[in-house]
Amino acid sequence: MQELKDIDIQGHLTIGGVDTTYLAKKYETPLFVYDVEKIRENARAFVDTFARLGVNAQVAYASKAFSSIAMLQVAKQENLSLDVVSQGELYTALQADFPTEKIHMHGNNKSVAELEMAVKHDIGCIVIDNFHEIDLLKEILANYQSEMDVLIRVTPGIEAHTHDYILTGNEDSKFGFDLANGQAEEAFRKLQEIDSMHVKGLHCHIGSQIFETDGFVMAVRRLFDSLASWKKNYDYTPEVLNLGGGFGIRYTDEDEPLQLDGYVNALVDEIKQQVVKHDMDFPEIWIEPGRAIVGNTAITLYTVGSKKQIPGVRDYIAVDGGMTDNIRPALYQAKYDAILANKANVPASTTASVAGKCCESGDMLLWDVPLANAEPGDLLAVFSTGAYGYSMSSNYNRFPKAAVVFIENKQDKLVIQRETYQEVSKNDLSYE
Ligand code: LLP
Repeated sequence: MQELKDIDIQGHLTIGGVDTTYLAKKYETPLFVYDVEKIRENARAFVDTFARLGVNAQVAYASKAFSSIAMLQVAKQENLSLDVVSQGELYTALQADFPTEKIHMHGNNKSVAELEMAVKHDIGCIVIDNFHEIDLLKEILANYQSEMDVLIRVTPGIEAHTHDYILTGNEDSKFGFDLANGQAEEAFRKLQEIDSMHVKGLHCHIGSQIFETDGFVMAVRRLFDSLASWKKNYDYTPEVLNLGGGFGIRYTDEDEPLQLDGYVNALVDEIKQQVVKHDMDFPEIWIEPGRAIVGNTAITLYTVGSKKQIPGVRDYIAVDGGMTDNIRPALYQAKYDAILANKANVPASTTASVAGKCCESGDMLLWDVPLANAEPGDLLAVFSTGAYGYSMSSNYNRFPKAAVVFIENKQDKLVIQRETYQEVSKNDLSYE
């Protein structure tokens, strides 16, 4: 990623002012390295834009993108709220001492244990996803003699991917209540009868890695079409509208995302028009960026090992990680940029494909990218791996999970230790 391509006088790639070859020696590879100043910059781009527009807002970091105690501490320091989707993510938030009133819980199949944990810790809001959950939460709140603010997750019939969005009458999605077929209204009516649940408003999330504002604007219009009839029928106006996440980032030069304030401006503009049109109060706006907060703030460092050249076909170089630390190329055909970090000034003279070391042909990180000639022992840096890299990593082939380092003020700090082999097999029990 261009923004992180800083090179020192030795021709080494640096991140946050620190030489990547030093980091690789100190912490070994594969290694995730985050530039914390960039995380803060991204967070502030959202928070400050709402403030500048004079709009009450919560910017909830979608912790699924990268959840760790250190990361959530940074999110807390930046006054973000937090989106969690599991007990594990909530547990991490509690370990980070994240203010519970700023935690929102998602999930299309929340368990009793998850809901109980949320209620016990009195989190800020639960995003209701389905009818079963309404029954479960009602019972849990009664048992705990507690109350909960909730949003209703609705599917507005808009599916957005990068430049395209698809409009559908009824959305075929496992998440939320459909607006078009009346299920969202049915959920609303049901919730209105439950005193322990306070319907603060609606939530929708139309997709991920979105580059245009049209899909968001369309979603806002659809929400207000329904809200207008809810106002008429039930005299209800929402206090909160949560428009989800999905703001795109640049992985390669093919990607042309907007500046982060561009998404916020478009959302606020449209909501302004809609509240005037429908004579409603301006709601508090919540958003849930994950990728846009962390995606372009990290690189992954790998050590180059074997090479395989197939004349007339392809040159492969293999590194010491792969789909275990970045499943996205294999799963979504996601593209990344990379350079040899120890030869960062050497012009790309070859076209190489970067393979991981898992026992699977699909374990590829990059296909046919321009690179300087790689030799065993070289250091490869893959850019923009901050979102859905570590968080989706696995122990396939019993590889230990990578380590994660944060850089701030030119200081490196280990924030997730490299897993040991003992840890990889820690749950195994003997059968002898
Ligand atoms: N809010 C909700 C309700 C979501 O479902 C998601 C992502 C987000 C917010 C954050 O979306 P973001 O701002 O990060 O795009 N593993 C995939 C992405 C899955 C996203 C799932 N939901 C990937 O690696 O591209």
